[in-house]
Amino acid sequence: MARMSVSRLQKMKQEGQKIASLTAYDASFARAFAAAGIDFMLVGDSLGNVVQGQDSTVPVTVADIVYHTAAVRRGAPEAFIIADMPFMSYATPHDAYLAAAELMRAGANMVKLEGGDWLLETIAGLKERGVPVCAHLGLLPQSVNVLGGFKVQGREQAQAEQTVRHALALQEAGAQLMVLECVPSELGQRITEKLSIPTIGIGAGAQTDGQILVMHDMLGMNSNYLPKFVKNFLTDGRDIDAAVCAYISEVRSGDFPQPEHRFD
Ligand code: KIV
Ligand code: NA
Repeated sequence: MARMSVSRLQKMKQEGQKIASLTAYDASFARAFAAAGIDFMLVGDSLGNVVQGQDSTVPVTVADIVYHTAAVRRGAPEAFIIADMPFMSYATPHDAYLAAAELMRAGANMVKLEGGDWLLETIAGLKERGVPVCAHLGLLPQSVNVLGGFKVQGREQAQAEQTVRHALALQEAGAQLMVLECVPSELGQRITEKLSIPTIGIGAGAQTDGQILVMHDMLGMNSNYLPKFVKNFLTDGRDIDAAVCAYISEVRSGDFPQPEHRFD
């Protein structure tokens, strides 16, 4: 199989092939996910929650993401790896260039940042300088202190329209992939149809071009709080490898997510 790339992700969207992705934070899981045929891995700042035990992603630093990106890269030398730009590391375009350089040197193929319109110059500048960008709209966990909690975004018409506008502007600025987190499935579908770049949903319905889950969630490890969009694949006597293969095949066939995993 050809190595994953931004152009191959683009081609998957055009051909209607679903993109299956997971977060990864260490070499051993990265190796297993690569062996199972995952399309890409995200070194998410969700590592603040699932690895560090923080109650949000706000405390995560560039050095943390660098450490985990390097580990994932060592475990999966051929994989397509996206690294999250942590809270406040892209406050200005210049900050973003310095942080992105560290993540790319650690082994990332692309960086991801959260937000709309205010990122247009940053995204264009990163791309011009050789850094592919994944945008992230909907629920923005780094803004939890502004939002006042983790909740579905874009249920009101005005907010939905604004999200569509931001999605188009981010694509125009040069974003090559778009994560949509916790939006009504109808909005996930609308943005997916409007954009030429692939959309990757988490709690964004079944119509996005791909899906992503936090690896701990799909292995049933999130004990105290289970978001609606999560499915545990480590069931029915499966081992971890089989659970990952089941996740990938259910994303590809469209069996995941089901209506019970979606927001209306
Ligand atoms: O940090 C993360 O795991 C993410 C995904 C939920 C998209 O940003
Ligand atoms: Na993240």
